[in-house]
Amino acid sequence: MANIIECHALTKEYLSGESVVKAVDHISVGFAQGEFCAITGPSGSGKSTFLHTLSSLENPTSGRVIYGGEDLSKYNDNQLSILRRRRFGFVFQAYNLVQELTGYENILLPVMLDKKKPDEKYIDKLIDMLGIGNRIGHLPSALSGGQQQRIAIARALANKPSILFADEPTGNLDGKSGREVLSLLKYVSREFGITLILVTHDLGVAEQAQRVLTLADGKIIRDSKVGDLA
Ligand SMILES: Nc1ncnc2c1ncn2[C@@H]1O[C@H](COP(=O)(O)OP(=O)(O)OP(=O)(O)O)[C@@H](O)[C@H]1O
Ligand SMILES: [Mg+2]
Repeated sequence: MANIIECHALTKEYLSGESVVKAVDHISVGFAQGEFCAITGPSGSGKSTFLHTLSSLENPTSGRVIYGGEDLSKYNDNQLSILRRRRFGFVFQAYNLVQELTGYENILLPVMLDKKKPDEKYIDKLIDMLGIGNRIGHLPSALSGGQQQRIAIARALANKPSILFADEPTGNLDGKSGREVLSLLKYVSREFGITLILVTHDLGVAEQAQRVLTLADGKIIRDSKVGDLA
């Protein structure tokens, strides 16, 4: 099956004083539509930078990203931001909700920004699946971390993305809420056939994925699919 997204020799360098840090070092890899892949590795190995360059949140220093057969290096910043808004969803460790808006308004925000009419049936289904129906009228300050992250997941999915990028989505949560959020992420992505690319340093989280990429020094040092170890 063709990959929904792939990168070729993707590289991101940062200047650190006099020296150059290769945060992402010539990574070439592809992801199939609907797969759940975890990205793991020690702190500083380049997980976040890889996620950011793959998802076009940051421009790579060199290399290419191909999404749906399109070479994104040919896109300008405006085209990239439209692509991100319509086709990609993002969930981060910090929930990044707008504090002045209710949960429901936060969820609808990306659809509104796109000047589209929300698919209310779909949004209601998401809210139902995420178990936040009785909380969406509240401001984020009145919600627990787990509830805020579930609102953030619904927001990330509101535009029906084909890929959900998550960077340590359970990093701020206690064990129980973290497990709930992870199983909801798996459930909604499976239900809607969304590719889930999730960064975590937690091996307990990574082992729930179908595939685990391990990074070290900006390179993939291991790419294992479930069943490989059997
Ligand atoms: N904006 C930046 N400017 C300079 N160096 C950076 C920048 N962002 C990341 N780096 C460096 O790039 C390398 C990879 O960082 P990155 O944040 O991608 O690692 P990570 O695997 O996500 O780590 P963590 O598990 O701590 O989140 C590190 O050496 C980091 O210091
Ligand atoms: Mg990181």
